[in-house]
Amino acid sequence: MSDRGPGVNRTTAEAARADDEPTAGGSSPACACDAAPSISAHFDAKVRRMGSGATGTPHATTRALLDLLGDANGHTVLELGAGRGGLLLEVLRNGAARVTGIELSEASLAVARQRIADDGYADRADLVVGDGAAVPLEPHDWVVLDRVICCYPGADALVAHSAGAARQRYAFAVPDSGGWRGVASRIARLVDNSWNSLMRRPCTTFVHDLERIDGILRGAGLVRSATARRGLWHVAVYERASAGPGQTVPARPRS
Ligand SMILES: C[S@@+](CC[C@H](N)C(=O)[O-])C[C@H]1O[C@@H](n2cnc3c(N)ncnc32)[C@H](O)[C@@H]1O
Repeated sequence: MSDRGPGVNRTTAEAARADDEPTAGGSSPACACDAAPSISAHFDAKVRRMGSGATGTPHATTRALLDLLGDANGHTVLELGAGRGGLLLEVLRNGAARVTGIELSEASLAVARQRIADDGYADRADLVVGDGAAVPLEPHDWVVLDRVICCYPGADALVAHSAGAARQRYAFAVPDSGGWRGVASRIARLVDNSWNSLMRRPCTTFVHDLERIDGILRGAGLVRSATARRGLWHVAVYERASAGPGQTVPARPRS
């Protein structure tokens, strides 16, 4: 991914060709998910509807992730489903050494690219159009998926593939799947999905089982270290058990 040096961006076709390459995180899933084209079409259309200038304030889950992750200074950060670049821009402003964004939606990434360039960080950012479950991922200190796993039917492949790229921390936000929150999340998804279907918007979202995600991450050598809730969203940070002294996530109350 860094073969062309900093700030250089690749297209979907180039990323797809790279699918055959070995991955940093071990074995690569056999293929990109069939749903990838409809996800990118949905978010491309959404960005066009909103207008490229409308970046808004960071989502509550983005703020929670940044809070739980702590000081980005000097770290490398990989975000899958980077959207319009809000989280990456924030960690760059806070001193991140390098960031990589992987995103299915070209239109979203174009906005992210512009925002990062406008703030003068283009030389520290590598933004790639591609499927985070399938493109080769280089190791980064932190790997983040903010409201992304729930867009993707192949959650197991996405989580397993990306977990291997996390040198220190792995962080994500997904709809809560347990107890009454899980029931409420499923109802909310059902309403969202029905609306999108009515509007002929090609996007389905999912409530993936949190215990299953936890099992995959534990299997990849990551241990849950902090969690938060934002509405029906579950926000979690995991830490690589082998992370050395000074690389631990500060203890935070679990909500
Ligand atoms: C709800 S948006 C969240 C965007 C951003 N993380 C944020 O919080 O503002 C989900 C994004 O994930 C992207 N996405 C979903 N599955 C993906 C995958 N497998 N690889 C890369 N991007 C993906 C979508 O294109 C979309 O832009």
